[in-house]
Amino acid sequence: MAIRNILLEGEPTLSKKSRVVEKFDERLAILIDDMKEILLKENGVGLAAPQVGVLKRVIIVDIGEEMVELVNPEITKRLGKQEDVEGCLSCPGEYGITARPMKVTIKGKNRFGKDVMYEGEALTARAFCHEVDHLDGVLFKRHVIRMLTKEELE
Ligand code: NI
Repeated sequence: MAIRNILLEGEPTLSKKSRVVEKFDERLAILIDDMKEILLKENGVGLAAPQVGVLKRVIIVDIGEEMVELVNPEITKRLGKQEDVEGCLSCPGEYGITARPMKVTIKGKNRFGKDVMYEGEALTARAFCHEVDHLDGVLFKRHVIRMLTKEELE
């Protein structure tokens, strides 16, 4: 695979808006496969293309039974509310309590341009919201009610 590193908070790319994907080609497939490999290696819940320096609207999320890919994702339904601990591979060692919807429906396309739709609850709902935010240059800290202290992290 190509060598791709996870960008850390402070990199300008992370605060930019990603472009809509129009070509469902081999390059896109390689990007998604690389992202999946990185997410497995990092043992994370989700990853967005800008985190590996690619400003394209592509995310992957581990929903438990599988790792799903969404190109040009859009959250179409938000239900309820949850407050829980959230972190980001681009902000290592930092965690905060965020407010997110309890349940979301997300629509988009897979690498072949086929429509896909998923519903997520609890952690999965949070991950979908978190990753879509990355595509608009937003980090989880914008949603943080309070960051966890060092004592709480231990
Ligand atoms: Ni993140």
